[in-house]
Amino acid sequence: MARHLITSALPYINGVKHLGNLVGSMLPADVSARFFRAAGHEVLAICATDEHGTPAELAAAAEGMSVADYCDRYHDVQRRLGEQFLLSWDWFGRTSRPQNHELTNHLASRLKAEGFLEIRATEQVYSIADQRFLPDRYVIGTCPNCGYERARGDQCENCGKQLDPTDLIDARSAISGSSALEVRESNHVFLRQSLLSERIRAWVDAQVEWPQLTRSIAYKWLDEGLRDRGITRDLTWGIPVDPVEFPEVAGKVWYVWFDAPIGYIAATKEWADADPSGGRDWQRWWRLDRGADDVRYTEFMGKDNVPFHTLSFPGTLLGSGEPWKLVDQLKSFNWLTYYGGKFSTSEGRGVFMDQALDLLPADCWRWFLMSNAPENDDANFTWDLVGEAVNKDLVATLGNFVNRTTTQISRHFGDAVPDTGEPAEPEFEFVARVRSALSAYLDHMERLEFRKATAALRAVWSEGNTYLEQREPWRAIKTDRDAAAVTLRTAVGFARLVASASSPYLPETADRIAQMLPDDRLDAPLSPELADSILEVSGGTRFVAPGLLFGKLDDEQLAAWTERFAGAG
Ligand code: MF3
Ligand code: ZN
Repeated sequence: MARHLITSALPYINGVKHLGNLVGSMLPADVSARFFRAAGHEVLAICATDEHGTPAELAAAAEGMSVADYCDRYHDVQRRLGEQFLLSWDWFGRTSRPQNHELTNHLASRLKAEGFLEIRATEQVYSIADQRFLPDRYVIGTCPNCGYERARGDQCENCGKQLDPTDLIDARSAISGSSALEVRESNHVFLRQSLLSERIRAWVDAQVEWPQLTRSIAYKWLDEGLRDRGITRDLTWGIPVDPVEFPEVAGKVWYVWFDAPIGYIAATKEWADADPSGGRDWQRWWRLDRGADDVRYTEFMGKDNVPFHTLSFPGTLLGSGEPWKLVDQLKSFNWLTYYGGKFSTSEGRGVFMDQALDLLPADCWRWFLMSNAPENDDANFTWDLVGEAVNKDLVATLGNFVNRTTTQISRHFGDAVPDTGEPAEPEFEFVARVRSALSAYLDHMERLEFRKATAALRAVWSEGNTYLEQREPWRAIKTDRDAAAVTLRTAVGFARLVASASSPYLPETADRIAQMLPDDRLDAPLSPELADSILEVSGGTRFVAPGLLFGKLDDEQLAAWTERFAGAG
């Protein structure tokens, strides 16, 4: 038994997330959290909304709301959607909460004490019309690298280049559109990553378990040389710097990418503070001097987030001089595209979390998304693939097995598990095949290889159908009732095991299957040996048919959705 700390990249507060966001962080984090719990480990799964920075301010302005009200509203929206997708967070916090204010300023003062901060006079874009500085996305203009005309001050969306607002050509304000901009001097705190880079590199070198995608991104940045970065902004929305510790920048706020990952720790504090009994200890998960040395910490995120999690956030923690827990495994994802293009909020292209749940139950989406996860490459969303995942895997393989089994039992044995007959060679062989298929599946899950894991789980399901077709209980019942009884009792035992094995992907379906045997549930941790439980269902125990698990998607339905979500672009 191990202790698993699991975090997923904190979703930006602005708006409802699309399925590409979901599959790149929150969903795989949940599948893993559920898997490690099912395997008997202690798990703490943490997420939160990332509420600072210019995206939040701009989105609030677009809806005519104060930023604080906007964040309250969208935090609730995102929490509700996450719950509807059956994301089993232990805590879903907010980077705007006091715990994060306090911890962010604490780490900043530690970094200062260790000599890793410096105040520098910088040149910033100032808007005369708006009477304010315009950091990051507040400036729009032409990318000096590729000529894209709507590049933002922090990054060009078209070519991916990291920019400074002052780099943009024909710059204008994202608030007023005014191009009456000037450059003014402003003091800012800089994190001296150049001084930390040797320590960060040594730590990255030691992370031999990281997948290739994660490592290659980390080394690309290390090899280009870590630059010192401004970690404060001329904004009012954000975490205010402590004016006593940093008088030169009093009135300014910390940069969103400085406070957001600290939010993982602060959200864990929220979780602890929320328990009035005081029984939750956040330090046990985060402080190596308070028991966190036996924690295994896994992070999930899209590839654009990797530099912040392999370099800057670890740099913050290492530079603090305090014994913080750093990430062990960092699972990163490529992009999910929508018919080869980008999911786009502005063009209404693709499917968003709220819309998705109007079309299909969460389990169907969880299965489709994870079995098509953009793991080793970008992956493409198509409605044909949705149809295949639902119709072939869920309806024709898993659903069909459970349906055939329950129909036969209900028809011939009523509401009790058949209790006559003895298992023999075919059953022992079946158990052995299931054990080995299960073992392959569990190995892939341990390694967070989701495409392989879903294929292996599908193979486990298929064993059930193969067994039924070999034993043909619907035929045997006419000549040898005991033989049919053994087969169906074995099939129920298999279904019970499948519920447990499938629960990371299909939590709701797993519950429905498990409820077939309300008085004989399987509680033992997931392991290959659990295959033996197939033959351990008590004959005569109460049996409740679960009803149809999944509905088939027909071509017409898929065609209608294809058209509806094609978007303007
Ligand atoms: N909000 C960021 C994004 O969606 C992720 C922040 S991860 C954190 O890309 F750890 F920094 F919070
Ligand atoms: Zn560009």
